[in-house]
Amino acid sequence: MCGSCGRALEAAWTVRGLATAGMLLLTGCSGSGLQSVLSPAGPAARRIGDLWWIMFYLGAAIFLLVLVLMLSAVLRREADETSYPLGGTAFVVLGGVIMPIIVLVGLLVYTLMVSTELDVPDTDALTVEVVGHQWWWEFHYPEQDIETANEITVPVGQPVRLEVTSADVIHSLWVPRLNGKIDLIPGDTNVFWIETDEPGLYRGECAEFCGIQHAKMQFRVVAVPADSFAAWIEGRRKPAAEPITAQQQKGREVFMSSACVYCHNIDGTRASGEMGPDLTHFGSRRTIGAGILPNNRGNLGGWIVNSQAIKPGNLMPPMHLEPQELHALMAYLESLE
Ligand code: CUA
Repeated sequence: MCGSCGRALEAAWTVRGLATAGMLLLTGCSGSGLQSVLSPAGPAARRIGDLWWIMFYLGAAIFLLVLVLMLSAVLRREADETSYPLGGTAFVVLGGVIMPIIVLVGLLVYTLMVSTELDVPDTDALTVEVVGHQWWWEFHYPEQDIETANEITVPVGQPVRLEVTSADVIHSLWVPRLNGKIDLIPGDTNVFWIETDEPGLYRGECAEFCGIQHAKMQFRVVAVPADSFAAWIEGRRKPAAEPITAQQQKGREVFMSSACVYCHNIDGTRASGEMGPDLTHFGSRRTIGAGILPNNRGNLGGWIVNSQAIKPGNLMPPMHLEPQELHALMAYLESLE
């Protein structure tokens, strides 16, 4: 390749690399993102967001100041030290000692103030117990006696007290738009909280590496107005819906006569396993596989037949079913709203 062609190619790649990096940056900053820290949707996340922006603007201002000083040093390197307004030593003491002390101590005090404001509110919060599993989330509302998985519904404008622990290894709960992170430690319970300003869907993640499917350990927070929340609670306290059609009936027979019952619970039936997610109201969930796929028939079929192909290493074994049995089973599961 000729020398100029090589340089042209190199320049083209550089431009392409910069454009990609710029696009990624812009995507990361988009306020409408489902889980952007820069798009807070609750009081705790807003305080953390404010702190982030103050640090960003302060850091940017200091960075610009240093650039200007470096430029002026380069341009005036011939000049005599006495020509500087403050003199060399005074400038080093001011810029290298006094200013960093003021900035860092100021930020430390402000950060401590913000962290005290992030304490769990004393008000009458809704309590939700959270258990992390490899790789899914178990949620229990102790006062309402409701069990669910990978999706919690919360009332808008009311603090939700999360009591978190783990059944196996250390996980970390993080809903970027609602608050910071809290570790789920086996044998210990940490207390945390979230609160939302407005109805919506907020994505949560596991933020601590917990095994090969760590990245596929997500959940959803569904924030609804107080009256809808009361209705939701009412619906969730009922046992599973009875099958209506013949296909749903057959699906229930398939479920109850297979290994499903040893790992999953469906209230009002003989399925009372605790190894996997509770399926009592499975049909109303938005996702399957701990938040990784939309809950639709195609994904559900793939998951039941061989979830190991979707999420290798999870505890659910492949199921060997006849096509009619699979369709009946899916019809039954979808009816569990
Ligand atoms: Cu659980 Cu990472």
